[in-house]
Amino acid sequence: MNITTCLFPAAGYGTRFLPATKAIPKEMLPILNKPLLQYGVEEAIDAGFNNMAIVTGRGKRAIEDHFDVSYELEAQIRGTDKEQYLVEIRNLIDKCSFTYIRQNEMKGLGHAILTGKPLINQSAFAVILADDLCTAEEGVLSQMVRMYEKYKCSIVAVEEIEKNQSNRYGIIAGEKIDDDCYRVNLMVEKPEPEEAPSNLAIIGRYILTSDIFDLLQNQKPGKNGEIQITDALMKQAQQGKVIAYKFKGRRFDCGNLDGFMEAVNYYYQALRDNT
Ligand code: UTP
Repeated sequence: MNITTCLFPAAGYGTRFLPATKAIPKEMLPILNKPLLQYGVEEAIDAGFNNMAIVTGRGKRAIEDHFDVSYELEAQIRGTDKEQYLVEIRNLIDKCSFTYIRQNEMKGLGHAILTGKPLINQSAFAVILADDLCTAEEGVLSQMVRMYEKYKCSIVAVEEIEKNQSNRYGIIAGEKIDDDCYRVNLMVEKPEPEEAPSNLAIIGRYILTSDIFDLLQNQKPGKNGEIQITDALMKQAQQGKVIAYKFKGRRFDCGNLDGFMEAVNYYYQALRDNT
């Protein structure tokens, strides 16, 4: 059975982007004229997903409004040359459905994913963290779907990082089973460089089998007192059921200012090169 639901945890406070994120969700910050979350939704549609399940929180209503029809605005610009600016988002809204659920307390990524459970009715689903913006010839999630079809277990996207950055990521270790694939046997959340088991860091793309929910349900708070997805995944890894996939493409960590500016410059240059 094809997997068709992509979950977007988008309830975090985005404190590194204050004051911009005081009233605007981090996931709605734009790279050029498009919000981060829309890039993520486009990547999911390209990979064959048609149900976008979004975990939101207080003060995040802009997300629901963005992925909805704006009759007043559309009526206002109908027949003018401004109409073209809404074509892309309108097409996207027509292609998929959006469902929402609120995370009442920000208890970490694992807790956000568990909160999304009522929106998932499949044996596996994808997760995109929209602040990790990925660009690639073949979308990163499309690449991962191919891996899922091959291995039929949870897939995490990984990237080689400088070891001194390990305390910002979940780090994996595993047995290399293919050019770009590792069967994971160890995962450590945000280790200090001397404790990092490798330089392979998990980025914001996952395909998870739905038994993850039971594991998350029973998961005790880990690093920083948060329910960590890495800890639940480690339990799947102990049964040999997690593959780390070194994706092809480039990722921008738009959750911090440097990565955000790199993405803006990259996309602006790409726009100029195409006009
Ligand atoms: P981050 O840790 O990067 O986001 O979580 P944050 O907490 O909003 O950012 P800072 O550190 O305060 O600046 C990665 C993703 O997981 C979501 C966030 O919205 C982000 O998309 N998340 C995180 C949740 O949905 N709920 C949580 O409890 C934590």
